[in-house]
Amino acid sequence: MILNRLRRVVISGTGSHLPEKRITNRDLEGMVDTADEWIRQRTGIIERRLAAPEQATSDLALEAARRAVADADLAPADIDQLIVATVTPDHAFPSTACLVQHRLGCRQVPAFDLSAACSGFIYGLAVARTAIAAGTARHILVIGAETLTRFTDYGDRGTCILFGDGAGAAVLSRAEEADDDSGIIDTHLAADGSGAELMILPGGGSRLPPSPEMLAKRQNYIKLEGRAVYKNAISKIVMLVNESLERCRLNREDINLIIPHQMNARIIESAAKHLDIPLEKIFINLDRYGNTSAATIPIALDEARRENRLHKGDLVVLVAFGGGMTWASALLRW
Ligand SMILES: CC(C)(COP(=O)(O)OP(=O)(O)OC[C@H]1O[C@@H](n2cnc3c(N)ncnc32)[C@H](O)[C@@H]1OP(=O)(O)O)[C@@H](O)C(=O)NCCC(=O)NCCS
Repeated sequence: MILNRLRRVVISGTGSHLPEKRITNRDLEGMVDTADEWIRQRTGIIERRLAAPEQATSDLALEAARRAVADADLAPADIDQLIVATVTPDHAFPSTACLVQHRLGCRQVPAFDLSAACSGFIYGLAVARTAIAAGTARHILVIGAETLTRFTDYGDRGTCILFGDGAGAAVLSRAEEADDDSGIIDTHLAADGSGAELMILPGGGSRLPPSPEMLAKRQNYIKLEGRAVYKNAISKIVMLVNESLERCRLNREDINLIIPHQMNARIIESAAKHLDIPLEKIFINLDRYGNTSAATIPIALDEARRENRLHKGDLVVLVAFGGGMTWASALLRW
C-alpha cells in the first residue's frame, strides 16, 4: 500500500529570535487611552518586542533559522527547502524566504513565502511534511517570522495592545529510526474567506496601492473586529483539537502539551475549559511577547523545549486560528 511507503517526519531542531526592545503596557498608557490592568485582564499581555529600525522580518527569520539548523546538528547546505510563513514580508517580492536562503548559505533549493496569517506556521509544517513524506526532500526549514509592529496603529487602542515582533523556526526531517513512533501524526488545515474583513491590512496591496489618501485613512495599518475574532477563535480551537483526537483515535487525557497560537489568554483559557484540559497542559508565553502571528507557535515550541516541557513520547498539539480566516492543527508524537 502506498501509505506504508511514505516516510515518517520528525521535528529535528528548533530555534527562535526576539528583538531586544520591549513595549510594556505602561509604555502604551502614554500613547493611547488604556491601562495596564485593562490590558492584563482582557488579554494577558504584559509586554511585547519591537524590531529595531534597521531590522526587517528576514533579519529575525535568519537568526531563528540559524539556531534551528544548528539545533538539528545540520549545516545550511543540508537544507532541501525553505518556507517562511509571514504576513509582514520585507517586500511584496522577492520573497523573504529567498533572502533567508541566500544569507543563511543554503544551496539553490526551493524557497517561498506562505501567507496564512496566524495559522501560517502550521500550514508550513503540513506542506513540508507532505514533501518529506513523499520523498522529494529530506530536511525542510519552516520559519514563522513577523514584524507586525510596522503595521500596527499606535493610535488605535483596540489593536496596538496586541501585537509584537519575533521569529521562530523548526527543521523537519525524514525520520531515521525504524522502531520509533515519534513524528507528525496528523495535520488539518482550513480557510473561510467570507471572514476576510475581520482581520485585514487593507492598504499597500493591489486593491489599495500606497497613496496619500490611503495613508490619510490609516489603511496601511491592521484593522480588527476583536469581538468577532474572539468568539470564532474559541470555537475553532475546540473543534480542531477534538477532531484531531477523533481522527487519531486518541483521548484528551493522552495529550501532554497544547501549544496554541498566542492571541489572548482569555481565548486560550476558555478553549481549555471547553476541552476540559487543565491549564498546566497549555503552553502560554503571550504575557512576554503578545501576538506575533505566524511566529507565536515556533517561538513557543522552542521555549517549551528549552524549559523541558517536552519529553520523548509526549503527545503535543499545535493549534491556530487567524486572518483569512484560516485555522489549522498539528498532532505530534515528540
Ligand atoms: C481586542 C480584544 C482584546 C478586546 O477585548 P474585548 O473584551 O473583546 O473588548 P471589546 O472590544 O468588547 O471592548 C470593550 C470596551 O473596552 C474598550 N477598549 C478596547 N480596547 C481598549 C484598551 N486597549 N484599553 C481600554 N479600553 C479598551 C472598548 O472601546 C469598549 O468600550 P465600550 O464598551 O465603551 O465601547 C479582544 O476582543 C481580542 O483579543 N480579540 C482577538 C483579537 C486578536 O488577537 N486578533 C488577532 C488575530 S489572531
